[in-house]
Amino acid sequence: MTESKNAPRAANDAVRGTAQITFRTPTSEDGVRVWNLIAACPPLDQNSMYCNLLQCSHFADTCVLAERSEKVVGWISAYRPPADHESIFVWQVAVSEEARGEGLGKRMLNRLLTLEAVAGVKTLKTTITKDNTASWRLFSSFAQSQSAPICDEPFFEKGRHFNGHHDTEHMVTIGPF
Ligand SMILES: CC(C)(COP(=O)(O)OP(=O)(O)OC[C@H]1O[C@@H](n2cnc3c(N)ncnc32)[C@H](O)[C@@H]1OP(=O)(O)O)[C@@H](O)C(=O)NCCC(=O)NCCS
Repeated sequence: MTESKNAPRAANDAVRGTAQITFRTPTSEDGVRVWNLIAACPPLDQNSMYCNLLQCSHFADTCVLAERSEKVVGWISAYRPPADHESIFVWQVAVSEEARGEGLGKRMLNRLLTLEAVAGVKTLKTTITKDNTASWRLFSSFAQSQSAPICDEPFFEKGRHFNGHHDTEHMVTIGPF
């Protein structure tokens, strides 16, 4: 087939969501695209572009980037807390609207656990506000698929830590695996 015949087919696949999703480690060149994805995924906090650049460079080995037809459709930022090296802390999970409901969020969490830089972790942690149903469902379903226990407790509190500007973030712990 000629390239001109292939091009429309690729475009249609991207729209229908049938094109294959690929995963890779981010590079600093991805920072802006990650920043754009986060901006399109409320209620996620928009961090500075500089912060996303640091995630895509210093923390790249513990992050997951998902692409479909060269478009960034999924993102996990995570790191191993210096004082808790047996855990992987998931900072943010974002899936673009057109790629939701296909299991991508869960696939990215599974992939995170397979990364070399994540080897040996015993628990996965994240924080979630009580009203983020999609996030609770995602992490509960992930815990179930790992046959791992899940629990949570208030961590950054609305009054004590956010001075009323943000709802309480509950620390969710999944594991031990
Ligand atoms: C949360 C988010 C990442 C989920 O991505 P996704 O790829 O659609 O999730 P998945 O398809 O992997 O779904 C995983 C599970 O969560 C459930 N789920 C996902 N979105 C849901 C929603 N809006 N309401 C209820 N359940 C939901 C799915 O049904 C699935 O459950 P199952 O495994 O029991 O069938 C995506 O909705 C998103 O980016 N939201 C905005 C940003 C955000 O809130 N991020 C999370 C906080 S860090």
